[in-house]
Amino acid sequence: MKLVIGGSTGFVATELIRQALEHPRITSIVALGRREILPSPDEGSKLRSIVCDNFESYSDTVNKELENADACIWTIAVTPSKLASVPFEETCKISRDYATTAVKTLDTLRHEQNGPLRFLYISGHFAPRSADEVPKELKNHGLINYGLLRGEAETQILAYGEQSNGTVQSCVAKPGLIDAPGKEKRTIPGVPNIDLQVIAAALLDQIINGFEKDTLSNADMIRIGQEALTWQQKA
Ligand SMILES: NC(=O)c1ccc[n+]([C@@H]2O[C@H](COP(=O)([O-])OP(=O)(O)OC[C@H]3O[C@@H](n4cnc5c(N)ncnc54)[C@H](OP(=O)(O)O)[C@@H]3O)[C@@H](O)[C@H]2O)c1
Repeated sequence: MKLVIGGSTGFVATELIRQALEHPRITSIVALGRREILPSPDEGSKLRSIVCDNFESYSDTVNKELENADACIWTIAVTPSKLASVPFEETCKISRDYATTAVKTLDTLRHEQNGPLRFLYISGHFAPRSADEVPKELKNHGLINYGLLRGEAETQILAYGEQSNGTVQSCVAKPGLIDAPGKEKRTIPGVPNIDLQVIAAALLDQIINGFEKDTLSNADMIRIGQEALTWQQKA
């Protein structure tokens, strides 16, 4: 399986790459980011670090690297902690439009059809898909527009899959706060937590074995990820 990881240098992507490198079912990993991953992959490794300087229209060189992907996990977004430093218009482009460009481009670049392209967009626990669903937690933190933007991205990604005549299966992951060893544990009332290793295992399980549903909750990912890690330990 050829897997593209969009946003190769981030917190979640780094763990996804670590686990994907160890996974026998993943034979090729394209780590797509605005900068190189470090350390650089070894010569002959199944991992390639591809730098992209325009996520709205990929260069021919980038397109070539993305050909015939079987799956993609998209991690690029402006996270809430960085919102203050990025104009909202730019945040929309980065967190929604880059993902929709990715799914369309990867679909177009599939010349060898070995089953559908699986595209998984990582969103967040509170990303309402309509204004009626905005929870008080977003209101309390001044994040209504941001939450709706992420919900809109979810809707667009899922719609692309539904309208693709089976060429693309889309899925949205809605994690709460992601914890990792050495990282200060955050708690926000009403927001669940998940371990980094567990969410990465869950997402890889789903792109390899198929999406059990189109929207994965934090609880779904804990269940799937813990099961996948248990199997890996036994193998
Ligand atoms: N961390 C959490 O607790 C948490 C919880 C719930 C949901 N999520 C979601 O999970 C996903 C991944 O989160 P994360 O914590 O891994 O985030 P992260 O560490 O900030 O990584 C984000 C990735 O996006 C890239 N990126 C940001 N702005 C970009 C731009 N303008 N152009 C190209 N690439 C850009 C970053 O590149 P650089 O490294 O070059 O900046 C990085 O590779 C996000 O959708 C986030 O909302 C995270």
